[in-house]
Amino acid sequence: MIPQSFIQELLSRVDVVEVIDRLVPLKKAGANYAACCPFHAEKSPSFTVSPTKQFYHCFGCGAHGSAIGFLMEYSGLSYPEAIRELAGQIGLNVPEDESATRTAKPDTSSLSETMARAAKFYREQLKSSARAVDYLKRRGLTGEIAAQFGLGYAPDAWQGLEAVFADYGARELLEAGLVIENDQGRRYDRFRDRIMFPIQDQRGNVIGFGGRVIDQGEPKYLNSPETPLFEKGRELYGLTQARAAIRDVDSVIVVEGYMDVVALAQHGVPNAVATLGTATTGTHVQKLLRQADRVIFCFDGDIAGRKAAWRALEASLEQLADDKTVCFLFLPSEHDPDSFIRERGRDAFNAEAARAVPLAGFLMRELLGRHDIASAEGRAGLLHDAKPLIGRVQAPLLRLAMVKELAAASGFSQPEVESSLGLKPSVPPWSRNPRAATRAAPKHAPSLSRTLLKLIVHQPELAARLPFELIPQDRIETPLLGAIADAVSVGDIGRGSPAMLLEHFRQTSHASLLGDIAHELVDDPFEESAIEPLFCDLLDGLREQARGGEFRKLQEKLAGGRLDPHELARYRELLTQKQKLGSGQSGPQEDRIAGFSDSSAT
Ligand code: UTP
Ligand code: MN
Repeated sequence: MIPQSFIQELLSRVDVVEVIDRLVPLKKAGANYAACCPFHAEKSPSFTVSPTKQFYHCFGCGAHGSAIGFLMEYSGLSYPEAIRELAGQIGLNVPEDESATRTAKPDTSSLSETMARAAKFYREQLKSSARAVDYLKRRGLTGEIAAQFGLGYAPDAWQGLEAVFADYGARELLEAGLVIENDQGRRYDRFRDRIMFPIQDQRGNVIGFGGRVIDQGEPKYLNSPETPLFEKGRELYGLTQARAAIRDVDSVIVVEGYMDVVALAQHGVPNAVATLGTATTGTHVQKLLRQADRVIFCFDGDIAGRKAAWRALEASLEQLADDKTVCFLFLPSEHDPDSFIRERGRDAFNAEAARAVPLAGFLMRELLGRHDIASAEGRAGLLHDAKPLIGRVQAPLLRLAMVKELAAASGFSQPEVESSLGLKPSVPPWSRNPRAATRAAPKHAPSLSRTLLKLIVHQPELAARLPFELIPQDRIETPLLGAIADAVSVGDIGRGSPAMLLEHFRQTSHASLLGDIAHELVDDPFEESAIEPLFCDLLDGLREQARGGEFRKLQEKLAGGRLDPHELARYRELLTQKQKLGSGQSGPQEDRIAGFSDSSAT
């Protein structure tokens, strides 16, 4: 665990504008900075970065967050990784909680450096191996593409890495998976006489290798083991090289092999990545859909390819969205993407990609292929098999479309299909999502609590001046106001930006409301000079509201016939104030009090 105080300190020192500008060039736009949103495709910039709020926000897709959040979203880093990355940028050391250091991951920076050094060594070795260069040429690759992917060669020697690691016994070499230790404790290089494909993380650090045997041999590909740097189910080979192209065409092609990625790039299809010899995972799909609206899984046309495609489909179901497309391209069975593009060229490949089958179509085709819907058993089996699949689709319209297709194919009615799949009857999303409805509704003045919360998020230290006894308990803003005041009072949040609050309340029940408020702040900021007067007005408003509430309570009690002398005095006091304020309570009421007091208050 990284201490909260450090995270707040970090956020007070980094500038979100600089952090983002490094990755997505920003242009000044009034008080803020703007760019085309890196999280969805757009032509005019709706991505806004606020230097005063230390917060980014896209008016198009709603993406928002702090500098930490940006690195997580954009570079696919985990929360602690993003914090380390930011700290590294400004030269801060990340402290660890005592309790956590014992279980903490080893410091991976020395591993990264080890991997980088090995990658450089393999690249250099490629130049001096005519055999390896010749192999790559025979596979149709130019030196340019080999350089772009950092391809290398691991020499045919047991301790080749000794040439660059003077301390061949170093712990890092073993931990990075570059050497193997036998039972006698003797070490040797894991990769020998292989073409080396470095696997990079999203920041471009080498985290693993795939090594292909030259020509024939077993295993064909040898991969780095999982290490603290390298988790196969998360990484995508070639993403660093493909990222710009993926954004340009807003689509990404996912293939199975290292060579497929490199060959596609070689032949003019630069937006391809590969899963690393593992089945596609939900994390993969999530990462892919963040990069592009269209994901095309491209599998070999053989049985193994179909199986891999089905697994990719299963991994995708939960990630689907109504404005995204996941589709499947099956090449002729004798081909993989590499051989296909080499034989038929780029245009033929792109034509195939354009014809890829969308996920729902592939799913129906597979299910229908498994069941004979001419029989009742087949129709029942169809729905039975569809149930666990369709139930995982969160995209409302796509799910509805799938239900309708199932209904048409099975002869059941739509409500019958829905109930047998255990789904709630479909309601169009626009009549179901209350937020969508409120957004579309004409703007009305925000409530006092909302404005107050917005002001506190803007300037958290104001929370110390909040009169809590006056804050209505039944407002959705109240718990968050209280939580901010608590954090301020124990010093977790100082003179902070909204970004600090966002991080403080990350993954708490407050995060979503806080995000909404931060949006509003970027959308409709406060004038600095207006803050103090507004805060005072709001406090007055709170007092007024509280008095109104108290008055109504006393009035109700009075109607029920019982007020003790104190209450009665207070009631009169409030009434007088109300009248002074000209809120127009009229005479008869006072008469009634008089009458009441005559009869019972003595
Ligand atoms: P393929 O056997 O389809 O190889 O494995 P390929 O990509 O067509 O390779 P070339 O064209 O013969 O060079 C696809 C992917 O499966 C993993 C690798 O990631 C490979 O790129 N794989 C395959 C392994 O990890 N180990 C193996 O022994 C074979
Ligand atoms: Mn191949």
